[in-house]
Parts: sequence; structure tokens; C-alpha cells
Amino acid sequence: MTESNPQTTDQIRLTGEDEMVNFAGRMSSILMGGGLVFLEGTLGAGKTTLSRGLIQALGHTGPVKSPTYTLVEEYDLPEGRVCHFDLYRLGDPEELEYMGIREYLTDGTLCLIEWP
Ligand SMILES: Nc1ncnc2c1ncn2[C@@H]1O[C@H](COP(=O)(O)OP(=O)(O)OP(=O)(O)O)[C@@H](O)[C@H]1O
Ligand SMILES: [Mg+2]
Repeated sequence: MTESNPQTTDQIRLTGEDEMVNFAGRMSSILMGGGLVFLEGTLGAGKTTLSRGLIQALGHTGPVKSPTYTLVEEYDLPEGRVCHFDLYRLGDPEELEYMGIREYLTDGTLCLIEWP
């Protein structure tokens, strides 16, 4: 990946859930200090799978449920706080204010956002 040119896109082919989770584990080392990741892709593209791989690689041992109905799931992990959003069912952008989205988007927190 080229940091100097944000237009550069690299493609990585991941075949199957295991490869996705493995890739997420490799990504986790650069996301430990926090960050904002927009997960874009069609229904069933693997956004939650990638999130699960990241959250578990950062120390979560239990299951990772899709935040489709809750909008956000929070994890306080040894490697820092992770907030996993799924905004597919968001009816109105105002709801983001009601849920206090600004409180989540802080330094040191890793925010993973499905359907950004
Ligand atoms: N790289 C991959 N190749 C093939 N199948 C995959 C891959 N990653 C995930 N899957 C499988 O695709 C299915 C859907 O994955 P997932 O729930 O992560 O998608 P999603 O993008 O979060 O969907 P949604 O838009 O509904 O939130 C799961 O059964 C998962 O195991
Ligand atoms: Mg999902």
C-alpha cells in the first residue's frame, strides 16, 4: 500500500472465511492503536467476518455478533477499545447523534463500520 497516494488501491483475493479471518489477524497489528475502518461491500461480502477476525485477534475470546439490530457492539480489550458498527438499518442520520456516535470516535478507539 502506498501512503503518499490515497488514490492507489491494491486488491487482495481472499477465498473463504478462513482466509478472511487470517487476513484480519494480519491487519490487526497496524490497527492496535485505534483507527477508523469503513467496511464497504454488498450484503454478505464478508464485513462481519473481517471484523470478527480483527476483534478476536485483538484479544476477544467470545463470539462476535453482528450489530445489525443494536447498531454498535463495544469491546474493551487488552489492546484497546473496539467499536463495531453496522449502520445498514439506520433510518435517519439523526440517529447517529442520539446514539452518541461522537463519543465512540475518539483517539485510541478502533471503529469498524459496516455500511458506512
Ligand atoms: N472471503 C470470503 N470468501 C467466501 N466467503 C466468505 C468470505 N468471507 C466471509 N465469507 C462468508 O460469507 C458469509 C457472509 O459473511 P458476513 O456475514 O461476514 O458478510 P457481511 O458483509 O457482514 O454481510 P451483511 O452485509 O449482511 O452485514 C458468511 O457465511 C461468511 O462465512
Ligand atoms: Mg455484517
